[in-house]
Amino acid sequence: RQNERESLYIILNFAKNFFQEQLNATEEGQAIGLSYLKERGFNDTIRKKFELGYSPDVWDALTQAAIAKGYNADLLEKAGLLIRREGSNSGGYDRFRGRVIFPIHNVAGKVIAFGARILKTDPNAKGHQPKYLNSPETDVYHKSDVLYGIYQAKNTIRQLDVCYLVEGYTDVVSLHQAGIENVVASSGTSLTVEQIRLIGRFTPNVTILYDGDPAGIKAALRGLDLVLEEGLNVSIVTFPNGEDPDSYVQRVGAEAFKKHLQSAARDFITFKTQTLLEDAGDDPFRKAAVITDVVGSIVKIPDAIKRQIFFRRTAEMMRVDEQMLITEGNKILRKEK
Ligand code: UTP
Ligand code: MN
Ligand code: MN
Ligand code: MN
Ligand code: MN
Repeated sequence: RQNERESLYIILNFAKNFFQEQLNATEEGQAIGLSYLKERGFNDTIRKKFELGYSPDVWDALTQAAIAKGYNADLLEKAGLLIRREGSNSGGYDRFRGRVIFPIHNVAGKVIAFGARILKTDPNAKGHQPKYLNSPETDVYHKSDVLYGIYQAKNTIRQLDVCYLVEGYTDVVSLHQAGIENVVASSGTSLTVEQIRLIGRFTPNVTILYDGDPAGIKAALRGLDLVLEEGLNVSIVTFPNGEDPDSYVQRVGAEAFKKHLQSAARDFITFKTQTLLEDAGDDPFRKAAVITDVVGSIVKIPDAIKRQIFFRRTAEMMRVDEQMLITEGNKILRKEK
């Protein structure tokens, strides 16, 4: 078992080096991959820090290179790099072709998977090509346990005692380039308990920077009770509609971005209350539903003192009696038992 995992780390590291070499030292890589990354504003330093790469637009470039070095096809397949052709022993094709590669590292810095971005969408291409292709689950990659960027961020997270959580690979890379290094990405999925506990190893404070679109805001509201339940302190920063942390920092620059983080941060309960209240307007029934929803989040907070503070603050925002909220909270707790 241990040996098998070691072999996977070795082939994944080989692939990472191969992709980097393709990006930096081949004509195709430079003309297509490197110019794409430059256009997006990523500099040399940041490309090296995140070990970004390029997979050539060829059926089996990586596989051929690996086999020439003595690695076998089984290992490539187990690492999620090779897709076997039906009924074929040796034949197959590389999972990642013609894409920019974002290696995904574990906390210790070993490459365990890849995210791969398409360069442009060809309107004539047959079938749907997803914007990002990711490694499948393997013996060393359990998607739900992983946060992109944790290896590069962990020391700064500990030092600054706060972790920024973004949606995407490029958000992490862009923020690092802007000097904000305490940032990790959930990679587009809703947060899991394992991911929350991973953050909790370094800090109890999380600030969510999700995309400024209805989906991003919904994602910020959903799933966060889980984070509260783990005892973490959650704040939210939103961005103008259509922007994400990457596009925003590239547009306004590092200093303005940091100012925005300071001025726009709201604790999660306040954010949720304000967002839902705006939606509910003057409708008393909808307002009642908001109360139940927000109180449902408050009772997830394990710390009694913090709960008390949020009951008081929420009562003020909603212009209702604090005791009524506490009673409502007890009702919810009894129901859940
Ligand atoms: P986004 O659609 O916000 O992409 O998805 P992005 O990170 O801003 O990427 P760019 O700027 O367009 O290059 C957020 C994250 O969701 C995952 C990826 O991890 C992505 O970074 N995702 C998205 C996928 O895994 N597959 C997809 O097809 C799309
Ligand atoms: Mn697992
Ligand atoms: Mn998005
Ligand atoms: Mn983006
Ligand atoms: Mn995005």
